Amino acid sequence: MKRIALIIVLVVLAAVAYKGPDSLIGLAKMSRSAAPETEKVKNVLGHPVGKTGKKVLVAYFSWGGNTRDVARLIHEKTGGDLFEIKKETPYPKEYKPATEVGKMEREQDLRPKLQGPLPDLKQYDVILLGYPIWWYIEPMPVKTFVEAQDLSGKVILPFATSGGSDIIASVDDLRRTLPKAQVKDGLLANMTGRIDGWLKENGLVK
Ligand SMILES: Cc1cc2nc3c(=O)[nH]c(=O)nc-3n(C[C@H](O)[C@H](O)[C@H](O)COP(=O)(O)O)c2cc1C
Repeated sequence: MKRIALIIVLVVLAAVAYKGPDSLIGLAKMSRSAAPETEKVKNVLGHPVGKTGKKVLVAYFSWGGNTRDVARLIHEKTGGDLFEIKKETPYPKEYKPATEVGKMEREQDLRPKLQGPLPDLKQYDVILLGYPIWWYIEPMPVKTFVEAQDLSGKVILPFATSGGSDIIASVDDLRRTLPKAQVKDGLLANMTGRIDGWLKENGLVK
C-alpha cells in the first residue's frame, strides 16, 4: 500500500515539475464543469453577528462548487453573513473555456467586474475569504472584491481549495495586495478536518 501511495505522489510531482500548474488542473479534486445554478447557496446578509459575538462575513468565489461547499460549512459553524463573489460575466461552464478566460485574466492582471451589490465591508470585524487556487494564487475576481473597498485594519482569514497546491502563495499575494489589512495565515481546506481548530484559533467558534 505504502509503495502505491509513494508511486502516486511521485507521478504527481513529476507531472507538476514537467508541465507546471496546468498539470494540476487535471488532478483529483478538479471540478470538470461549473456547479449548476440549483446547487448555488443563497447569500445571507443582514445578520453579521457571529457565534462568538464578532461581526463576520464569509465571502467566497467558486467555479466548480468545492469552495462553495467549504464556505457553507464554515458559515454554519461561525454564523454571520455569507456572500458569493460572482463575476458580472460568469466564466464559461465548460472547463477548458473557463481556464482560458481565467488564464487571460491572470496574465493581464485584470480585475473583472463583479455582480453587485457588494456587502458594505466596513461593518465586519473579520472577513473569511474563500477561493479555489488558480495557478497558485487567488482568481482575479477575488482581487476585484478585496480592492473594491477600504480594508485597512480588517482581519482577513483566507481559505482555499485546490488540486494539490498549498495556499501560501495566495496569502502572500493577498498581503501584497492589501498591505493595510491584517491578512492572517490561511487554511487549505481540501480536507475539512482542520476547519474547527482554525476557527477556534481565530476566535470564531467556542
Ligand atoms: C483555471 C484553474 C486553475 C487552477 N489552478 C490550480 C493550481 O494552480 N493548483 C492547484 O492545485 N489546483 C488548481 N486548480 C484546481 C482547483 O483549485 C480545484 O479544483 C478547486 O477545488 C476548485 O474549486 P471550485 O470548485 O470552488 O471552483 C485550478 C482550476 C482551474 C479551473
